[in-house]
Amino acid sequence: MNKDGDNMELNTIDFHCFSGTGNTLLVVQKMKEVFERNNVKVNIYSLEKANQKNINVNHAIGLGFPVAEQGTYPFVWDFIKSLPKAEGTPIFMVDTLMVYSGGIVGPVKRIMKNKGYTPIGAKEIPMPNNLFPRRIIQDKKERKIQKGLVKAEQFANESLEEESV
Ligand SMILES: Cc1cc2nc3c(=O)[nH]c(=O)nc-3n(C[C@H](O)[C@H](O)[C@H](O)COP(=O)(O)O)c2cc1C
Repeated sequence: MNKDGDNMELNTIDFHCFSGTGNTLLVVQKMKEVFERNNVKVNIYSLEKANQKNINVNHAIGLGFPVAEQGTYPFVWDFIKSLPKAEGTPIFMVDTLMVYSGGIVGPVKRIMKNKGYTPIGAKEIPMPNNLFPRRIIQDKKERKIQKGLVKAEQFANESLEEESV
């Protein structure tokens, strides 16, 4: 229910994501699996296409993107900043990274709150570097992916436990 008393389709999540080397996409697909197992419909949209037609504040919104230069790519920030105002729409974000991000979770939460969304969760998930694969032992890379996917599954379950989704 939004502030005007209209019903929102909280059983649908529109997941807007970008993935440069595939890590974020793996995480988003794992989360989609968990949501759908729990009868929540998930639409995945390409965040880089930033098609405003795909933004529906009557659906819960997920954002998925990679960390770059301790923040994220300018077009990802542009997308987040260009989201329309909302009346309590639940929103969550997940990013993937190698080790460290500076300021993402706090600033994204602030932007969402100022726009009228209800932030229900934020998670940063370490994944391997796919750009220099020869430097990484394959087994080690696979283990890091599996650990990341377990975290994605846990985060999806935590998001489902929030009353608002
Ligand atoms: C240009 C560039 C900058 C990056 N900067 C960071 C960084 O500051 N901190 C970090 O932990 N990882 C950094 N990474 C690693 C990525 O965030 C990480 O590999 C992520 O999982 C990639 O996701 P994707 O495969 O969905 O693109 C960077 C990667 C690239 C390509």
